[in-house]
Amino acid sequence: MSKHISRRNFIHNSAKTTIAVSLTGLMSGDILAGCTSAKVTGINKTMMGYDQTPLPYAYNALEPMIDALTMEIHYSKHASAYSKNAKDAAVAEGVDITKPIENVLATVSKYSTKMRNNAGGHYNHELFWRCMKKDGGGIPAGTLATAINQSFNSFDSFKTQFSDAGKNRFGSGWAWLYIDKDKQLKIGSTPNQDNPLMDISDLKGTPLLGLDVWEHAYYLKYQNKRADYINAWWNVVNWDFVQQRYAGI
Ligand SMILES: [Fe+2]
Repeated sequence: MSKHISRRNFIHNSAKTTIAVSLTGLMSGDILAGCTSAKVTGINKTMMGYDQTPLPYAYNALEPMIDALTMEIHYSKHASAYSKNAKDAAVAEGVDITKPIENVLATVSKYSTKMRNNAGGHYNHELFWRCMKKDGGGIPAGTLATAINQSFNSFDSFKTQFSDAGKNRFGSGWAWLYIDKDKQLKIGSTPNQDNPLMDISDLKGTPLLGLDVWEHAYYLKYQNKRADYINAWWNVVNWDFVQQRYAGI
């Protein structure tokens, strides 16, 4: 009798575990891309499409760190144009836009400068919106926290190195926390709208956390004080999203 119960419980618990793992994977996948129109194989890989997805919060949600007007112009003008122009370039260059945009980024050297700038711009901004949230900030938890401490000695050290990557980017570009092919966490910066997914990039890997240091991201509120913008930005980082990305890759 007890054996039957044990076996039944085992099967029941195994089934629950399987469902939980599947759901976790799907959730991670959805959050991984943050948005998307195209799905590829594997429960952890929901990749990004070409359409701009809704901003996951109101324009004023990140105030006072990022003001509502900056968010509105950034999302509805700059990022919207990247999406439109990426689609236009894809159609003109024979790319199947039902396939993930990551496919183009991985082979972007084969395409036009318009594709490089706009496909990169679209991907980077879709990720950027989700790297932030109202009442964000603090410190990461879970496996990401452990990995950051192992890779950069401490969270404070990581924060300093990441901030420096953004501050020292000459002109326009991005600071990244990314994971390379050996599953190592790395910090770096790319110019313009490049990112570590691109075959032309000096950095190679999958972005986990991105910071836009183009002037359009901060100039209305911070003018030339990029460092002040970066210091404030840490207070809106969505560590849950970054952790879920890390766990899903
Ligand atoms: Fe931007």
